[in-house]
Order: sequence, then C-alpha cells, then structure tokens
Amino acid sequence: MKIILLGPPGCGKGTQAKSLMEKYRIPQISTGDILRSAVSDQTPLGIKAKGFMDNGELVPDDLVVQIVEKRLKEPDCSRGFILDGFPRTVGQAESLEKSGVLLDAAISIEVPDDEIMKRLAGRRTCRKCSAMYHIMFDPPEKEGICDKCQSELYQRVDDKEETVKNRLIVYRNQTEPLIEWYSSKNKLHTIKGTGSIKEIFNNITEVIDSI
Ligand code: AP5
Ligand code: MG
Ligand code: ZN
Repeated sequence: MKIILLGPPGCGKGTQAKSLMEKYRIPQISTGDILRSAVSDQTPLGIKAKGFMDNGELVPDDLVVQIVEKRLKEPDCSRGFILDGFPRTVGQAESLEKSGVLLDAAISIEVPDDEIMKRLAGRRTCRKCSAMYHIMFDPPEKEGICDKCQSELYQRVDDKEETVKNRLIVYRNQTEPLIEWYSSKNKLHTIKGTGSIKEIFNNITEVIDSI
C-alpha cells in the first residue's frame, strides 16, 4: 500500500499519517520530520536545509529526493508506506516515478486558508516523537507535555504568521500543480479536510480500503 498525503501546510497530513500508520502497520515518511531532525542535529543536510525551512521555502529537490530514495529502501517499507509532505513538486514526483516507485493513491486533503492560519497558530509539536497537538482543537492532557512520551512540546519556527503566509504561496505555486499531475494518472482522491480528526480519518480509510 503506497499512499501519498497531499495538501497545504496544516491540512492535517501528519495528524492523519500517524493514525494511518497504526491502522495499516506501514511507516509514515515525513520529509519535514526528517529535515527538522537533521536541523536539530546540525548534520550537513540540516545545515543546508535550515535557511529554506525557516523562511517557508522548499528545500532543493535533489536533497529531498536523495533522502526519500534512501529511506524507501529500508526493510520496513517493503509492505508499503505513507508519504507525508513528499513529493512536493512535479520534479520530485517524476524522480520518484523514475526510481520505480508506483503509488496506489494520492490523497489530497482540502482545507481553506483561514482555517489553516488558526491551526498553525495553535499547533504544538513534540520535540522527541514529533506528535502534534493544538492548544484548542486537540490539546495534550498536561499543558506543554506530550501525552505519548512525556517530552516537551514546542512551537515550530515556521509557524509564525508571516512564514505560514509564505508557505501557502509556495504551496499554491509549487505543490498544487501535483493535484492535476496525479489526476491525469487517475491516482487522485480528494478529501474534505475540515470536520473532526476522526471523521477525516474515516473518510481517508474508506478511500484506502476501496483501492
Ligand atoms: P512539513 O513539515 O511537511 O510542513 P507542511 O507541509 O507545511 O505541513 P505541516 O506539517 O505544517 O502540516 P500538516 O499537514 O502535517 O498538519 P498537522 O497534522 O501538523 O514541511 C516543513 C518544511 O520542510 C517545508 O516548508 C520545506 O522547507 C521542508 N520540506 C519538507 N518536505 C519537503 C519536500 N518534499 N521538498 C522540499 N522541501 C520540503 O496539523 C496542523 C495542526 O492542526 C495541528 O495542531 C493539529 O493538531 C491540528 N489539526 C489537525 N487536524 C485537525 C482538524 N481536523 N481539526 C482541527 N485541528 C486539526
Ligand atoms: Mg506535518
Ligand atoms: Zn512525544
């Protein structure tokens, strides 16, 4: 089962991917999480990526394509995977296809911009396990502490209002063309991304179970 979750920043890709991973027992591959951990470890990749990420710009294709190709060769991907935040440009999608990876479905989660601004302003992320919370919509049991691993929650630097606005522009210009691209390959499924996290999850699993 090879699935990609597409959609604007804050549409719920990470939230849904984590539940899908538990249900289907396949890994979530989030290029954002991989890059953030490279930045925090100050690896050569992290040093190159940091400036792009802090400004809400995309990291160059060649860097991300390499990370994903390497990750997909690991044994836990043999039964399938959920790609969260990759591909993000038509170039990345073409590279994935050239490397022989054929997807079963691209699921596009649609959320209006005003809702995205609210979601990202209140998001909190776990430093250790990268679980997501929202101070109003999905709060942790204890303020500032991850329910799953008891580590500290933080606010992503790219969740500042100005940076979110830029991420939305980048999404429209560079990522949205993928919707047409997957549609032309008959792989596209569109899901309404507003409503409860559970409702959206049920709609996504309905799509996956029908493939
Ligand atoms: P990345 O980490 O992928 O960020 P993104 O795509 O901007 O998406 P987010 O992680 O912000 O949102 P999400 O859709 O996962 O939403 P979430 O579930 O957290 O990328 C970050 C950066 O890395 C990029 O800007 C770029 O620089 C670089 N990068 C990454 N991949 C790249 C690539 N392939 N190529 C080049 N560069 C790349 O939910 C958001 C909030 O909403 C949470 O607080 C959550 O609790 C809440 N929420 C979720 N669902 C609901 C709901 N139904 N109702 C109410 N609240 C909800
Ligand atoms: Mg995410
Ligand atoms: Zn945690």
